Amino acid sequence: MKISIFGLGYVGAVSLACLARDGHDVVGVDIDRAKLDLIAAGRTPVVEEGMVDLMAAAVASGRVRVTSDVGFAIANSEISFVCVGTPSASNGSQDLSAILRLVHELGGALEGALNPHVVVFRSTLTPGTVEDVLRPIIERESGRKDGDAFHLCFQPEFLREGSSIRDYDHPPYTIVGANHPWPVERLRALFGHLPCDFHRTSVRSAEMLKLCCNDFHALKITFANEIARLCDALGVDPFEVMDLFCKDAHLNISSAYLKPGFAFGGSCLPKDLRATMHMAKQRDVELPMMSGILPSNRIHAERAFDLVLATGKRRVGIVGLSFKTGTDDLRESPMVALAEQLIGKGLTVTVYDPEVRLSQLLGANKRFIEQHVPHIGTLIAEDLDQVVSASDVLVVGMKDAGIFERLRRAVRRDHTIIDLANIGARDWPCAVEGLCW
Ligand SMILES: NC(=O)c1ccc[n+]([C@@H]2O[C@H](COP(=O)([O-])OP(=O)(O)OC[C@H]3O[C@@H](n4cnc5c(N)ncnc54)[C@H](O)[C@@H]3O)[C@@H](O)[C@H]2O)c1
Repeated sequence: MKISIFGLGYVGAVSLACLARDGHDVVGVDIDRAKLDLIAAGRTPVVEEGMVDLMAAAVASGRVRVTSDVGFAIANSEISFVCVGTPSASNGSQDLSAILRLVHELGGALEGALNPHVVVFRSTLTPGTVEDVLRPIIERESGRKDGDAFHLCFQPEFLREGSSIRDYDHPPYTIVGANHPWPVERLRALFGHLPCDFHRTSVRSAEMLKLCCNDFHALKITFANEIARLCDALGVDPFEVMDLFCKDAHLNISSAYLKPGFAFGGSCLPKDLRATMHMAKQRDVELPMMSGILPSNRIHAERAFDLVLATGKRRVGIVGLSFKTGTDDLRESPMVALAEQLIGKGLTVTVYDPEVRLSQLLGANKRFIEQHVPHIGTLIAEDLDQVVSASDVLVVGMKDAGIFERLRRAVRRDHTIIDLANIGARDWPCAVEGLCW
């Protein structure tokens, strides 16, 4: 394939060398003359394991050309990768000056392009940048339309400095955010041989995914370091703890707990987090990330309360009261807290939860109800239909396919559903509000 690469830093230079190694003709473009001269001489502009030999071989193959002329690159390629930098501005936003400058020139160069040119953005960009910021400029400068004379798409780059050639050849997956099949097919032709899955998604989701991945990596590092600081203060070996922690691939290193939904609660997580924070405070250990968890959870729970109030409806049905589906444990259930808040605001609340039989509650669970919501017994209906007919807004807090089907059949068109468990996705016959879309 004939490829151009804009921006020959860590991402662009490694991609150029790997694509030329794989037999493609590559034109590298940069505004930095020194980088162009280095590559033209077969030398690498970035320090990366394996790059000295790889770049020398790529340039010796005759498949690499370099230029600062955007028009030349577009005229000599069918697909372009944009890898210019997107550093932080002083207020934390992305400084888009390099990419804005480039897309003005790209637009001009695409004006006369004969074949539909595929432009793949690989720089990390916040969601909406390609479609709302860059596309209008390219369409204006070229006088042509995305999806017609050219195809814009976003493919997040997952390589890490220090192991970038290895990462190029073994990415976690290939993600293509695109609005048309053509760019997806071109990218599949280029990267489909890699030993990983290939996924197509929307441009915005692909942009968001890259940020989500990096944010999660930062969160993991910070979590391990906060645990280590606390371990240190407690005389516990943090390496042993984290090694054992990572051996649990069921709940810890897994997709468990990574689905958006309602706030957490129950008899363990809030209490154990509080105990952890208390220990840290006693020992003057600062754990800002972990100390943000409970406040964040509270904000998430309050959003449900705000959603109910925003409907303007006064009769609320709550489906699912315990802290998670399949248990009758009401201790620190965010659904119980929500019911209390709504009652406090003077709204009429009825509740259905097939697992919760007040007469059968025992021990700490019973004591929690007696102390926190002693009047809850009067709110609980035996039958789901009763709750549906006594309400205008239904807050669904349990993930149960049977309940979902019964609810779908029972709700009126004028009901509002607040689907905290995300059980019905968009598949409700009435208005839906929720936390997850
Ligand atoms: N470095 C990484 O490991 C990594 C990994 C994944 C994603 N990313 C993302 O990829 C993008 C590039 O990162 P990088 O580390 O390679 O950046 P970099 O700063 O090393 O390189 C960017 C290059 O773009 C060139 N450039 C600037 N304006 C240009 C223009 N108008 N035309 C042509 N070239 C121009 C610069 O001269 C520079 O050589 C960033 O958005 C970054 O967030 C980086």
